Amino acid sequence: MKKILVTTALACMICSAVFAQQRRPDAPLPKWEGLALTPQMGWNSWNKFATNINEELIKATADKMVELGLVDAGYVYLNLDDGWHGERDEQGFIHEDKEKFPSGIKALADYLHARGLKLGIYSDAGTNTCACYAGSNGHEYQDAFTYASWEVDYLKYDWCYTQNLNPIGAYTTMRSALRRAGRPILFSICEWGSNKPWEWAKDIGHSWRTTGDIGVAFLPIPVTYDENGRPRWRAQSVLEILDQNEPLRKYAGPDHWNDPDMLEVGNGMSVSEDRAHFTLWCMMAAPLILGNDLTNMSRETLEIITNKDVIAIDQDPLGIQGLRTLKAGYLQYWFKPLSDGAWAFCVLNAGSEDATIGLDWPEMEFKDEISGRSPQFKNINYEVKDLWNPSKKPFKTFEGQAIVEVPSHDVVTFRLTPVR
Ligand code: GLA
Repeated sequence: MKKILVTTALACMICSAVFAQQRRPDAPLPKWEGLALTPQMGWNSWNKFATNINEELIKATADKMVELGLVDAGYVYLNLDDGWHGERDEQGFIHEDKEKFPSGIKALADYLHARGLKLGIYSDAGTNTCACYAGSNGHEYQDAFTYASWEVDYLKYDWCYTQNLNPIGAYTTMRSALRRAGRPILFSICEWGSNKPWEWAKDIGHSWRTTGDIGVAFLPIPVTYDENGRPRWRAQSVLEILDQNEPLRKYAGPDHWNDPDMLEVGNGMSVSEDRAHFTLWCMMAAPLILGNDLTNMSRETLEIITNKDVIAIDQDPLGIQGLRTLKAGYLQYWFKPLSDGAWAFCVLNAGSEDATIGLDWPEMEFKDEISGRSPQFKNINYEVKDLWNPSKKPFKTFEGQAIVEVPSHDVVTFRLTPVR
């Protein structure tokens, strides 16, 4: 009898300790797992519209995403960026800008959910957002609960006006708040790579920005200086972002991706440059977040962003970011290991002249340290399919050297499938 009493008392003590632990307000809660087993896909308002957003635009964008087959292609998140905010009320709760969103964010979420879409929202770890609306600093739990009550599905969390904040602490606080609020919300960290988030954010967010903001530029935008001789802020080009994001590949994987920023496809680069930009983001297993005006886009833009074979490279379940095996002047080779022993292979011509390249497969052999795989071109025969020209007859690597034409600022992209 005594033994039973002691055991019961012990069990009670353990129970209340566990409860106390769970109820400690400062105990960090884990991230919502499994929300980005492949890189997230969607649309975001910033690149094209900045803070000029409203209910009408977002609903028209949602309608287009359904009508043009973008939702079917995988683009399910429709994300409001900076500028949706109204004021905080007396209790500190944030509200939407009633002029821009007269029906409210919750009604917008309902509209999207009814069409197979999910709603993303934007805030900032500091006192203000980058466009100077209210940030979440000191209101993290309130904001997370508000987003959950609006049935938001995605949060992009920026890093402006953070003064001396510790980034790990700030992003962990919001992670815990999102978990506490009880609704699975994908957490997209946006601190531009300033504090090497790839080293600490795997268990905090589902992706982290690795670079400064992208611009509508394939080649680097020249640096200019202010009157004090300091370099002015400038957006990053596609080629610069490639160089910054590629060395970080070992940090990426299912549910925790490097984010080289949103897409600028359809915003003013040439069709070749757009195709190269889109393909290379897929080779890098990047989140694919469109940033153009979906209500007014060219046929070429639509063809690029809905190429199912190229999207499949990005979304391959293996979730390994691709690697660059050659960078020789204007010429780059990119490979990405895919499931079932396949590879994606992309030739980038970053030069100003069109190029004709001879591909001698065995000479291109390499070892990928992350996947532990090599193509073994001497032993394995691959069927090679041109993903941007699907009507071209596939050929085999055992047939010998292949000659490919790569226009200036463009790519040729293949899927290599082992012949069984
Ligand atoms: C930062 C982010 C951008 C965008 C703007 C909004 O610059 O990096 O992606 O969200 O803020 O102000």
